[in-house]
This record gives sequence, structure tokens and C-alpha cells, in this order.
Amino acid sequence: MKKSNEVYCVSDRLVIRKFDLQDVHAFYQYRANPDVSRFQSWENYTLQDAEAFIRKQIVHSPNQHGTWFQYAIALTESDQVIGDCAIHTRADEPQIVELGFTLAPEFQGKGYMNEAICALMDYVFGALNKHKLIAFADVRNTKSIQVLERLGMRREGHLLENYKSKGIWIDEYQYAMLRSEWLNKHGVIHAMNN
Ligand SMILES: CC(C)(COP(=O)(O)OP(=O)(O)OC[C@H]1O[C@@H](n2cnc3c(N)ncnc32)[C@H](O)[C@@H]1OP(=O)(O)O)[C@@H](O)C(=O)NCCC(=O)NCCS
Repeated sequence: MKKSNEVYCVSDRLVIRKFDLQDVHAFYQYRANPDVSRFQSWENYTLQDAEAFIRKQIVHSPNQHGTWFQYAIALTESDQVIGDCAIHTRADEPQIVELGFTLAPEFQGKGYMNEAICALMDYVFGALNKHKLIAFADVRNTKSIQVLERLGMRREGHLLENYKSKGIWIDEYQYAMLRSEWLNKHGVIHAMNN
């Protein structure tokens, strides 16, 4: 396994780490895939977009109020990037954070996102000591809804025409997990660095 300096959390098969310039091509390939971008904010993603995005993440740090931080999800064995998950730390209430996630199509259907977010939740409620994790899902995005429900997140609301995506207003479900709920389910938090 290649050693990465900035590892935030690990699971059996995965390392959640900072992005690196070597990840640009893999990141670009899945972001440019129309199946991946269908329910996301971006479209027609270019290699230049990918490189500019990763360059910004390299000099960015997690847990900065009012910003998103994108974590690379890499295979433990090869350090190959297979997707990412992101945390938005709210400016008005930084104890509440929002989750986003994407997996390259060839790595879907293997439970990798469930595994990555379980590890990330341990880190969010442990190392980062957050109070509540929320996530929004486009109501048409069945795969994303399944990920959130498999994690045990509660559907807190159905928000009508809450988000404008590619020119149309779409409904979203809001999901949430409190720190107390995570602790009730999992007990111990394995804190690493933040
Ligand atoms: C949302 C997304 C990450 C879900 O990917 P996924 O592969 O379905 O999710 P997981 O990695 O958790 O895998 C779950 C699947 O693997 C299967 N699986 C296989 N081995 C498994 C294991 N060891 N543990 C758990 N699940 C396993 C599950 O049964 C499930 O398959 P199913 O959906 O056919 O029932 C993916 O569809 C994606 O990237 N979409 C585009 C981006 C996007 O829309 N993101 C959401 C907006 S924030």
C-alpha cells in the first residue's frame, strides 16, 4: 500500500484521505460520466475542471466554517481513487455538517460507499465532535436514498422544489443522523486526526 500523509479515517477496504494531483485523471473520469452527474450540480465536466478542483482541495483543510471539503476514497491495497465524499461545515452553525458522495460506476454495487461513510461518520462524530450530520437527496436519486437509509439516517423532511438542478426545480428529501443516534447504534468512536 502506498503511504498517504493526510489520512482522515480508514475501513477494512478503504482509506479516506486528502486528494493528490495523481488523482486528477480518475476524478475526471467519473465526474465526466453522465450517469454520475445526472443528479449532481455539474455537467460537461472537463479535465481542466478536475485539475483546478483538486488543486484547491490540496491547499484546503477540513472543518473550515462555511466551506465544503472533499475527501478522496481510495482502495487500501492500491491507493486508487474510486470516489469521494464531502462535508460542508455550516457557517451559521458549524456543529451541523452536510454530507455529499460520489462513486465511480465500476466500483458501485460493492458496498464501498456504505463502508466509506460509516468510517466518515465515526470521524465526524469522533475527531470532529459534530452534533448532527445531514444530507439532501434528489427524490429521483434512488441509489443515493438507499445509501442514506442503509446507514440508518432518518428522513426528516420532503422539501418541495428546494433545489434548481440543470434548469428545473426539484424536490429533495432531507436525511439526518444525530451524534447521540450514532453512538446508540455503534457505541465506540475510533478517533483519528482531523
Ligand atoms: C449514490 C452512489 C454512491 C451509490 O452507490 P452504490 O454502489 O449503490 O452504494 P454502495 O457502495 O453503498 O453499495 C451498495 C450496493 O452494493 C451491494 N453490496 C455488495 N457488497 C456489499 C457489502 N459488502 N456491503 C454492503 N453492500 C454491498 C448492496 O446490496 C447494494 O446494491 P443494491 O443497490 O443493488 O442493493 C452512486 O450511485 C453514485 O455515485 N451516484 C452518482 C453520484 C450521486 O448521485 N451522489 C448522490 C448525491 S450526494
